[in-house]
Amino acid sequence: MADHAHNKRAEFARAGRPSRPIGVITRGTTNQNRLRRCDRWMANNPEIQRLLKHANDPLAIDLGYGASATTTVEWAQWLRRIRPDIDVLGLEIAPERIQPAQQGVRFGLGGFELAGHRPHLVRAFNVLRQYDVNQVHDAWHTVCSRLAPGGLFIEGTCDELGRRSTWITLDAHGPRTLTLAWDPLHTDYPSELAERLPKALIHRNVPGEKIHTLLQRLDRAWDHTVALAPFGPRQRWRETQRLVATELGIAAQRHRRSDNLFEVPWSLVAAEQDDSKP
Ligand SMILES: C[S@@+](CC[C@H](N)C(=O)[O-])C[C@H]1O[C@@H](n2cnc3c(N)ncnc32)[C@H](O)[C@@H]1O
Repeated sequence: MADHAHNKRAEFARAGRPSRPIGVITRGTTNQNRLRRCDRWMANNPEIQRLLKHANDPLAIDLGYGASATTTVEWAQWLRRIRPDIDVLGLEIAPERIQPAQQGVRFGLGGFELAGHRPHLVRAFNVLRQYDVNQVHDAWHTVCSRLAPGGLFIEGTCDELGRRSTWITLDAHGPRTLTLAWDPLHTDYPSELAERLPKALIHRNVPGEKIHTLLQRLDRAWDHTVALAPFGPRQRWRETQRLVATELGIAAQRHRRSDNLFEVPWSLVAAEQDDSKP
């Protein structure tokens, strides 16, 4: 009888949870501080601040943190500036990469199904990059359908040292914005970010596609502001982005000055024929 009750409880606990994490194991490459541009952006993003400040028991999941706990622990330190009691959980699909809890951060096995959690914030960096483009849409949908109300999913990529980074912000309805961020001292032209675009866009950077048009527009405006070069690349970028925002009819952007950043609504870069859909 006791055994039966135990089995029933175990069955109930498993109900609604896939038995295996959704996704595939990929290379675990990571690096100390490589996600700092996105971390900084999140910590200063008014919507994320509001979301976490007002959440009961806020939960943030770092999906696919790789071969070490480094970037998840760093992210937790940034998020605690907004909400000191935030619960940060790292999920990995590779069982051998699961880390012991450390510095207040927990780690566990999980995939796009988020191990049954309903987090307010999910970050997946350099994860979908190693998937096929036609798997992207399903992965987005699986994550976004499991967010807490008002929750956000940040899906992005960066280079080995995190000097160039791009990410998409999604909510329960799908992609909302694309953000480009780079170290002003190590990038000559905005279009150099092309090789670090998220999976949904990287193969779209060809003439006739919106993302290509945007990068070309940013390069042209950058050339146009060459007279400001003596004031340094941050000052020059401030004017460049003001010009492009005016051309595109979007609000001028104010960001912290350590990174060069540009953020556009998804509609300005989304492919007409979306090959991220299965
Ligand atoms: C390249 S590492 C990225 C590490 C870290 N996020 C970074 O950007 O430095 C990608 C990791 O994502 C994991 N991964 C791939 N698909 C996943 C999924 N569906 N759910 C959880 N982890 C996944 C892989 O096992 C791998 O360890």
